[in-house]
Amino acid sequence: MALRITVIGTGYLGATHAAAMAELGFEVLGLDVVPEKIELLQAGRVPMYEPGLEEILQKHVAGIPGSTGRLRFTTSWEEVGDFGDVHFVCVNTPQKHGEYACDMSYVDSAFASLAPHLTRPALVVGKSTVPVGSAARLAELLARLAPVGADAELAWNPEFLREGFAVKDTLHPDRIVVGVESERSEKLLREVYAVPVAEGSPFVVTDFPTAELVKTAANSFLATKISFINAMAEVCEAADGDVVKLAEAIGHDERIGSKFLRAGIGFGGGCLPKDIRAFMARAGELGADQALTFLREVDSINMRRRGHMVELAREAVGGSSFLGTRVAVLGATFKPDSDDVRDSPALNVAGQIHLQGGQVTVFDPKGMENARRLFPTLGYADTALDAVRGADVVLHLTEWREFRELDPEALGEVAAHRILLDGRNALDSAVWRAAGWTYRAMGRPTA
Ligand code: UDX
Repeated sequence: MALRITVIGTGYLGATHAAAMAELGFEVLGLDVVPEKIELLQAGRVPMYEPGLEEILQKHVAGIPGSTGRLRFTTSWEEVGDFGDVHFVCVNTPQKHGEYACDMSYVDSAFASLAPHLTRPALVVGKSTVPVGSAARLAELLARLAPVGADAELAWNPEFLREGFAVKDTLHPDRIVVGVESERSEKLLREVYAVPVAEGSPFVVTDFPTAELVKTAANSFLATKISFINAMAEVCEAADGDVVKLAEAIGHDERIGSKFLRAGIGFGGGCLPKDIRAFMARAGELGADQALTFLREVDSINMRRRGHMVELAREAVGGSSFLGTRVAVLGATFKPDSDDVRDSPALNVAGQIHLQGGQVTVFDPKGMENARRLFPTLGYADTALDAVRGADVVLHLTEWREFRELDPEALGEVAAHRILLDGRNALDSAVWRAAGWTYRAMGRPTA
């Protein structure tokens, strides 16, 4: 009989994973402790913006006309325990308040709630990003609390999906990493991922700590790459060089590669910032803090970018104070094709300018609702044109395609001053300059 899969935690990762498992042909039951989320998902709706996710959800959720009926949702742990051969734990591990370490309370409580319901042999698979050493601890907890004892096994299977590409990354992963302690676990996971493996996704088998580390190492590398190019942007600015050309040129070296070399206001989101901090905290506990001191620098280069953008904006409005000035901010999300504003560099810059007395008006194609909730005191406009109306300076802070398609001439007619600061190095400087705008980007010559 085909494997029956449960997915615990239906946030970004879990909702996508559940829908993808149904798409791969499995019977799937998703659980969340928030009943409103379950109701929404059961109606085929997604609580966030993620391209393509609602479509595959509706293709499989039971009760939706024409669906395969393979995907259901519940809030009952008992039902999950009875149903599943393989249980994926997909709850989040945010940064702790006032500390670098990550908050394991959602993971711990998911395991504590699930274990007593494991009355038949099952594989529990952790997907959450956790400090190295967690899997060993949780495996022991499972064996102790599960009625089936050692027949409740654990595996660790980190997730590498990117927001905006979550469905594609889950169905066609560029690698599948599994930390296992038995052949049985490996065999079960090979069965779960048979389709992507047949399509060529590499399947890497490791021990627990290595699997946990792969995830934090990958995110640390990506964060380092972005901060590296942003450090080069700082030097380019000092030396009158052009960081975009520099990135293009070094990117041709295959060993370096051109991806993740976009200089700008830096990285944000729910993963990279908190993951590098949690990694430093964990290394400290292990007595290996020296190995990761460079991540402190990566973090501070990144945070400096936000402050630098604020200073460029201050310069653009006269150099001293933001009082009495109008600032248009294009973009609120931490990246395009997402409605996620967690630790968003764009909103951070908007907030800083607002707190210093500037009159800030924000527009974002998908992030308005979340931005309003997080920063209710900022001004918001319904369109980019309305945001720019009367502005002394326009800040381009999230590189949505919609912003690249704006008409600089039309915007120039409503703006008080034609000054554009491109915080993502993504707009066509020649086109904006031709329309009479002063175009300034980070790490590039001013004229
Ligand atoms: C990241 C990892 O890419 C993913 O593998 C992991 O599973 C979760 O964390 P995500 O947070 O969705 O994914 O965003 P990502 O595309 O990595 O971008 C992160 C941030 O870096 C964004 O704020 C983006 O704007 C910024 N970025 C990215 C740059 O500033 N420059 C770049 O060249 C690339």
